[in-house]
Amino acid sequence: MSLLALRNLTKTFGGLVAVNNVTFDVAEGSIVGLIGPNGAGKTTVFNLITGNYKPDSGDIFFDGRTIKGLPTHRIVQQGIARTFQTIRLFQNMSVIENVLAGCHCRMQSGMLSAMLRTPAQRAEEQRALLRATRELEFVGLADEHANLAKNLSYGNQRLLEIARALATDPRFIILDEPAGGMNDQETAALIYTIRAIRDRGITVLLIEHDMSLVMKVCEKLVVLEYGALLAEGVPAAIKDDPRVIEAYLGVDTDD
Ligand SMILES: Nc1ncnc2c1ncn2[C@@H]1O[C@H](COP(=O)(O)OP(=O)(O)OP(=O)(O)O)[C@@H](O)[C@H]1O
Ligand SMILES: [Mg+2]
Repeated sequence: MSLLALRNLTKTFGGLVAVNNVTFDVAEGSIVGLIGPNGAGKTTVFNLITGNYKPDSGDIFFDGRTIKGLPTHRIVQQGIARTFQTIRLFQNMSVIENVLAGCHCRMQSGMLSAMLRTPAQRAEEQRALLRATRELEFVGLADEHANLAKNLSYGNQRLLEIARALATDPRFIILDEPAGGMNDQETAALIYTIRAIRDRGITVLLIEHDMSLVMKVCEKLVVLEYGALLAEGVPAAIKDDPRVIEAYLGVDTDD
């Protein structure tokens, strides 16, 4: 059964068709990679799923129900979390505060009880702190909790974004180039972390240019080119697909 289903999704910017009639599924509990050359429309697909953009046509189903047109915060409440291709952290806030910002997306207390600091609100804050600490431990950043986000290495900032996304308690996480800017050692650790996320029962969709990472970690790859779906299948088949090789290398495989 698929947790996420995209159906004939199209998004244009002026005359440019950034996403062109794209249909694919992400099975619950799987790790799926969305790949393709620069400008292929990958991030735009993510922005459509998360409600940052509205599709021109087509539909998006999450757990069998349409989420098309919902505002971003409602989509987070449904259990979809994301990280960004261009890191978006509160750079001058501490590492733990950045993760708490994720927890707060899901908290019940209203503004009034927060101002009055009711016992229920204090208990909720305690739970959030515990959760944020656990997520930092999960991504290996517990020792950095008091550090400012801006002082973390690029790779650790990416892990912090993952921790913040996990703190929203998602069923589904989408990662936009999580290995971007990471060295080989950090990338190897990231592979472990992505698998551990899935082992927690969270379904993963990721965009990544690092082919060795997607080949190792993904059960299925979806390839976009010029906004359209070029190929879809298991990594071993995609790697040898002449259309995919041509899209990446620009060589004419028909010769
Ligand atoms: N907000 C926007 N306004 C206008 N054009 C946009 C907008 N967002 C994306 N585009 C265009 O849509 C196309 C697809 O962009 P997108 O960012 O989805 O590609 P991508 O596959 O994520 O590429 P990359 O691998 O470089 O991140 C590009 O031509 C891009 O310039
Ligand atoms: Mg992109």
